[in-house]
Amino acid sequence: MTVAAEHFRYVQQLVMERSAIVLTEDKSYLVDARLAPLARAIGVADVNGVVDHARSRRDPALEQRIVEALTTNETSWFRDTRPFHALEHLVLPALIERKRASRVLRVWSAACSTGQELYSLAILLEEKFPQLRRGWQVELVGTDLNTEMVRRATEGLYSNLEVNRGMPANLLVRYFEKEGAHWRARETVRDRSRFVKLNLVGKWPPMPTFDVVLLRNVLIYFDTKVKTEVLCRVVKQMARGGYMLLGTAETPSGLCPDLVPMPTDGTVVYHLPVG
Ligand SMILES: C[S@@+](CC[C@H](N)C(=O)[O-])C[C@H]1O[C@@H](n2cnc3c(N)ncnc32)[C@H](O)[C@@H]1O
Repeated sequence: MTVAAEHFRYVQQLVMERSAIVLTEDKSYLVDARLAPLARAIGVADVNGVVDHARSRRDPALEQRIVEALTTNETSWFRDTRPFHALEHLVLPALIERKRASRVLRVWSAACSTGQELYSLAILLEEKFPQLRRGWQVELVGTDLNTEMVRRATEGLYSNLEVNRGMPANLLVRYFEKEGAHWRARETVRDRSRFVKLNLVGKWPPMPTFDVVLLRNVLIYFDTKVKTEVLCRVVKQMARGGYMLLGTAETPSGLCPDLVPMPTDGTVVYHLPVG
């Protein structure tokens, strides 16, 4: 069943209002595919039934489920490789040197999906910067709009298919334990990480400033105005001297003049100068 034009417009508007994700006119196939499981879950005949249900009952919980069903949560371990190379060879050594007096390091994965991005960084820290276990306060925070993503990231449990997407075999055995058909991230990966629900276009809980922000593969879903607003708001949440990494298809050029691009090793890291 294809979503009716009027219902598509309703979903389009709802998703825009609640997440700022732009569903272009050609995305009705996405609405069909993503809302079909929701139709089964709530016991209505089809996708149009889901929208009818939400509209007639003005059911906020169902509306939230519709919005969450329309987020794209694609992610993988050490995604795109080069940003993690830049973190290892440029960003983290510079921060460790600069922060050797305060010994506090805070990282924010600002659209963390199921947690692979933040846990990849946790593994990188464990592998290459073991000195941070001695006398440093390291806080790794992952946030996402999608409740289920936050739950899954917190759980740290991954299928074979998921671990096969970018997790090297030697790191898999070192940092995960087998749990039935799944792999659970060990305590050494999880103990410095926490995950919280946060809508980048909503109200944010009080947060500290971060030395590293990973804002990757999320701005692509927003229009230019929202992209600028989100980017500038996230920059305000960065510590002076901090670094931001974006997705490979994303650039802040012209959107936030405070950020200084530092091309490095096939990727670009964005630096917020100290003063
Ligand atoms: C494609 S994933 C990117 C995951 C990870 N950053 C990476 O690059 O692998 C995009 C994530 O952005 C989240 N997202 C979309 N709109 C959002 C919003 N308004 N606020 C917070 N998160 C949002 C989605 O739920 C999804 O998990």
